[in-house]
Amino acid sequence: MTDAQLDDDHFYNDLDATLDQVWKRLRRGVADRRSAMHTAQLASIGLDGAPRVRTVVLRGADRGARRLRVHTDRRSPKFAEMAAQPRVEVCAYDPRGKVQIRARGAAELAVAAGAEAAWSATGRSGRVCYRSPAGPGMPLDDPAWTDPQSGADAVTDADAGREHFSVVFMTLEHIDWLYLAARGHRRAGFDWHDGRWVGRWLAP
Ligand SMILES: Cc1cc2nc3c(=O)[nH]c(=O)nc-3n(C[C@H](O)[C@H](O)[C@H](O)COP(=O)(O)O)c2cc1C
Repeated sequence: MTDAQLDDDHFYNDLDATLDQVWKRLRRGVADRRSAMHTAQLASIGLDGAPRVRTVVLRGADRGARRLRVHTDRRSPKFAEMAAQPRVEVCAYDPRGKVQIRARGAAELAVAAGAEAAWSATGRSGRVCYRSPAGPGMPLDDPAWTDPQSGADAVTDADAGREHFSVVFMTLEHIDWLYLAARGHRRAGFDWHDGRWVGRWLAP
């Protein structure tokens, strides 16, 4: 039996405690870059109606607001996709804890003043990504064309790239929990209903 399984008694057969686990693990993902849930897969609906999925860093998990936050470049295809169709899903898996969390809801996009607090909290290395003259996915003749500048040419303006920065807030409507255990897997679904999460067990 793994350490995770020895430690699971407090939530294994308890829906409320399972929901606590969801938020605890998402918050840990935000706070600890070594956590398996520091990154998640974000799915959107492509402009052609087909699914699109990519890895993103989880930047915020607010249980009270039932909201997740991620950052992206507003020039990226996903931004246009979510602007056109805000339905999104994220999926994260922790192989040590043997937990998968899927959460779906509606994305709200914030730029300029709406993204100011997140931009202010973003460090120098995080800001560099937004300085590229080419938006994500733009075709390049020279693959090195977007490499960060160095030496005398280095950008000194800490706010460079600010106009490309955007924040995606996802307000959750459904959460799916899957916990793999040798003594029996546990799966639960939680729906936001009449101002509260309503949970039930599901067949894994
Ligand atoms: C570990 C990892 C973390 C990433 N984090 C982000 C992120 O937080 N935000 C983001 O927009 N892209 C992030 N990316 C890049 C995306 O996966 C994707 O390649 C890029 O955003 C373009 O996506 P799009 O063409 O669907 O818009 C990350 C990629 C990896 C591998």
